[in-house]
Amino acid sequence: MGGALGLITGLVLISAASAVTIFRFAFGRYLSHDQLLELESQRQRLLAQNAELGRLELERQTKDHILIGRLSDLDADEGKYFTDYQMQQALAFLDKDKLPILLSAKCTHLGCTVGAQVDDQGRILCPCHISYFDIYTGQPSAGSPAKQPLPHLSWVVKDEKGNVVAMKMSGDPLKGSLDAQDPDKLNVFLVKDRRKET
Ligand code: FES
Repeated sequence: MGGALGLITGLVLISAASAVTIFRFAFGRYLSHDQLLELESQRQRLLAQNAELGRLELERQTKDHILIGRLSDLDADEGKYFTDYQMQQALAFLDKDKLPILLSAKCTHLGCTVGAQVDDQGRILCPCHISYFDIYTGQPSAGSPAKQPLPHLSWVVKDEKGNVVAMKMSGDPLKGSLDAQDPDKLNVFLVKDRRKET
């Protein structure tokens, strides 16, 4: 499903880049130098986006762990966006024990991307039709149009040598501990959950 989404998005980007090329070929002689430059930079941007999309997709097909960032980059009040294994937006937070929380950011109502800002009740907001989700449980608040929780994603924290320090597979208890560790020297990775493939 994620692969298909990436493929479709890639095709759209390639088509858009091709459309810009065709437009330039057909109407180039009627355009000013500045307009031609702008068209070319648009084409380059679309090609770069497509290349980045391909890189992300290949990384997700071939790697069991995807780097999200330093543990010290995560925050309790504002999530960090990243791309999950379904090629969808997801969010990483820090919980009150300084452990990562990874959540899908795809709203379970109609699929909008949920906001990254955490309110004073520990919730994030999907602005499309106003659904609030608790970042600890993923559950939507009563009265939200979304009825299903945002799924938690599995993570692992490694030290600078690549040794696993702590790990939490979605739905399982925490393994390991980050006590007495320097968060500036720890990296957080999204983990491919192979249990979902069986
Ligand atoms: S898509 Fe999120 S509330 Fe409707």
